[in-house]
Amino acid sequence: MSVIGVVSMKGGVGKTSTTANLATAIASKLGPGRVSVVDLDPQNALHWHFGLEHVDAPGVCEQSLHGRDWGDVASTSEFGVACLPYGGASEAHREAFEMLLADEPDWVGTCLKHAGLDDDAVVLIDTPPGPSVYLKQVFACADLVLIVLLADAGSYATIPAMESWLDDTLVANPPFGSVYVLNQVDSREPLNHDVTELLHQKLGTRLAPIRIYYDEAVSEALAFQQPVLIYDPHGQASHDLARLAAWAINTLNQ
Ligand SMILES: Nc1ncnc2c1ncn2[C@@H]1O[C@H](COP(=O)(O)OP(=O)(O)OP(=O)(O)O)[C@@H](O)[C@H]1O
Ligand SMILES: [Mg+2]
Repeated sequence: MSVIGVVSMKGGVGKTSTTANLATAIASKLGPGRVSVVDLDPQNALHWHFGLEHVDAPGVCEQSLHGRDWGDVASTSEFGVACLPYGGASEAHREAFEMLLADEPDWVGTCLKHAGLDDDAVVLIDTPPGPSVYLKQVFACADLVLIVLLADAGSYATIPAMESWLDDTLVANPPFGSVYVLNQVDSREPLNHDVTELLHQKLGTRLAPIRIYYDEAVSEALAFQQPVLIYDPHGQASHDLARLAAWAINTLNQ
């Protein structure tokens, strides 16, 4: 099993969209039945991207609190990706789950091992923004972590916080590294272009060679509860995500 974590210090940069759409792009290359997504964000929004609507159904939060298998809450979408939602959870249950995650640093990795996934499965995990127990869990089990950034000053300013969090928390570097991915790049914006150049110089090979351009189809696809690769297969974002999927598969196979 290969695990890809999707994280960021800043909110609203496109983690959930990227998790859902990259998973779909990877599934379209590897074939159905191989790719799953796990929602580790209490916002519980990832399932919307796959047209799976059971908002209050239990997910990985409730399963964990009851000692049940995560595999039992996996829903297979029509897009070749299975989704394990965070699930509807009361505030008390969210707090209890976060305490459990703080006490058991390998909880997510262990639950994934027992979720009935095949050895050649690829799992993508979505997280809430900023430092959290979810972020630590992802670094403990991921083979590759994608740190999503916008090509703007606000995102640039979060890089030191991300890097010092990595140093301070002593999380192990994932086998295939933690790689920054630029999302919502708009080449018509001069500032976007300048920040991209700056990031390239600052991060070197830790900046993914593929960037995802700004494409309104990403938001529209969510309104139709579809991955963008289904909603607008020939658009810019679908093109970028297909290339990012090929790069991620290649990276995990090295
Ligand atoms: N490449 C893109 N082009 C255009 N819009 C995008 C792109 N990626 C994401 N968006 C839009 O940006 C908004 C935020 O995306 P998303 O919810 O995925 O961010 P997030 O990082 O998961 O947010 P949060 O930190 O709240 O979890 C959404 O409206 C989404 O449709
Ligand atoms: Mg999100």
